[in-house]
Amino acid sequence: MPVLRLAHASGGSAEIYLHGAQVMSWMLPGGEEKLFVASEASFVPGQPIRGGIPVVFPQFAHDGPLPQHGFARTALWTLLGDEDDERHASATLELSESEATNALWPHRFQAHLTVSVGASELEVTLGVTNTDSHSFNFTTALHTYLAIGDIREAALEGLTGGEYLDKTRENTRLVEESERLVVMEHTDSVYVDAPNSLILRDGGRRPPTRIDKTGFRDVVVWNPWSEKVTTFSGMTAEDYLHTICVEAAQVIVPIELGPGESWQGSQKLSVQGGTGLGAPGRATEGKGAT
Ligand code: BG6
Repeated sequence: MPVLRLAHASGGSAEIYLHGAQVMSWMLPGGEEKLFVASEASFVPGQPIRGGIPVVFPQFAHDGPLPQHGFARTALWTLLGDEDDERHASATLELSESEATNALWPHRFQAHLTVSVGASELEVTLGVTNTDSHSFNFTTALHTYLAIGDIREAALEGLTGGEYLDKTRENTRLVEESERLVVMEHTDSVYVDAPNSLILRDGGRRPPTRIDKTGFRDVVVWNPWSEKVTTFSGMTAEDYLHTICVEAAQVIVPIELGPGESWQGSQKLSVQGGTGLGAPGRATEGKGAT
């Protein structure tokens, strides 16, 4: 499968498959891989690849008539261009309607995914423009599989007090009580209008990863745990220990675009020496006119 490699002068790098515009690797200058790929992930045209950052569009999960998570993650994107400056190496890929997408979702659209890698950060920005003459709506997510040492020792901070839908308990609406979310069971939670900045600590062994989003209102946290792991393609029995999905998402209130309108959302992962979240921010809307 065609792969695009972004290399920044610092030594930071990323790999993007044209299949799904899926970022499959993000490496720090020292060579540490920050994204997880399932041990037995298969790479088959037209099939989802388990790991990295699948692009969920135009439907999250089974919340509609389309195949699970829509078609963007299984479509072949094209490279629009790339750019280098002192701080980043970046590339933009594009997907627009085709016979295949029209058969599933009868709307003309243009989606752009820009991936930008620097010395200590990876930013992924998804933009969608309605190029049709009628309105449409969609749900979306950047389904980021973060690599961690051991899930039982990792903690996600910043969600405290937020409401979430627990998909493992028939979408029961709950409030996140914990200051540090430690995943200890099958977890599939949609945090509604979630904060824009989270911190993922990885057992204190490595510097934490800061996860910032703009444009996307929600955050999905997913891990299949031991009882479900092997029911997911490509995952071996131990794989659940080494990843947590923290997805910048908009799934509760679909994004609606009129003709000519655009929406944009991004997720930035950065590895820092610092420990705090800085100024907290709530979810923001990324919709605007072109
Ligand atoms: C998450 C969903 O985003 O993705 C889960 O909330 C789903 O319900 C998971 O199981 C994995 O999906 P898939 O299609 O990649 O196996």
